[in-house]
Amino acid sequence: MEIKELIGKQELDERIKNLAMQIEKDYDKKEIVVIGILTGAVYFTTALTNKIKNNIELYFMKVSSYGVETDSSGKVTIEIDLKADIKGKDVLIVEDIVDTGYTLKYIKEYLSKKEPKSIKCAVLLDKKERRKVKIDADYTGFEIPNKFVMGYGLDYKEKYRNLPYVGYIEI
Ligand code: IMP
Ligand code: MG
Repeated sequence: MEIKELIGKQELDERIKNLAMQIEKDYDKKEIVVIGILTGAVYFTTALTNKIKNNIELYFMKVSSYGVETDSSGKVTIEIDLKADIKGKDVLIVEDIVDTGYTLKYIKEYLSKKEPKSIKCAVLLDKKERRKVKIDADYTGFEIPNKFVMGYGLDYKEKYRNLPYVGYIEI
């Protein structure tokens, strides 16, 4: 399988630094409850939060959304739930990619029911043209074409997450 580079390490670092600066500015000096979505958003979540000077509480949740191989089923299930109480807090969901939008929409609605003071989403990648439900992130790293991508946390059949860049295969 040939993996081609789509977004290089330096480009990722620079963009994430910019997003961090924007988030710092928007939240002023407020405390942020960051909820990273396992497993894909691990690299993005650590890189992003590392660069934000605000006080941060960091949690992770695990959801699964994929039925078969590379296509979203639309059914989202929670595999590891959030234990923290987020009522009245400023919550920032950090996700690797928005594709059809089912996953992020589900997570946002699920967490909204816990009555946070505010809730926003930061996503590293956005395949806008694939969207099936209306959901937009507040912070987006890169809009990408309709290609199956891997690396920097994203997998293809659980592999390639550890690539330091975002690559793609033709499908
Ligand atoms: P959605 O529910 O269709 O928006 O899918 C979002 C989830 O599917 C993400 O959290 C990813 O885990 C996964 N996903 C979507 N597109 C890709 C891709 O190109 N590569 C790897 N994972 C992907
Ligand atoms: Mg994911």
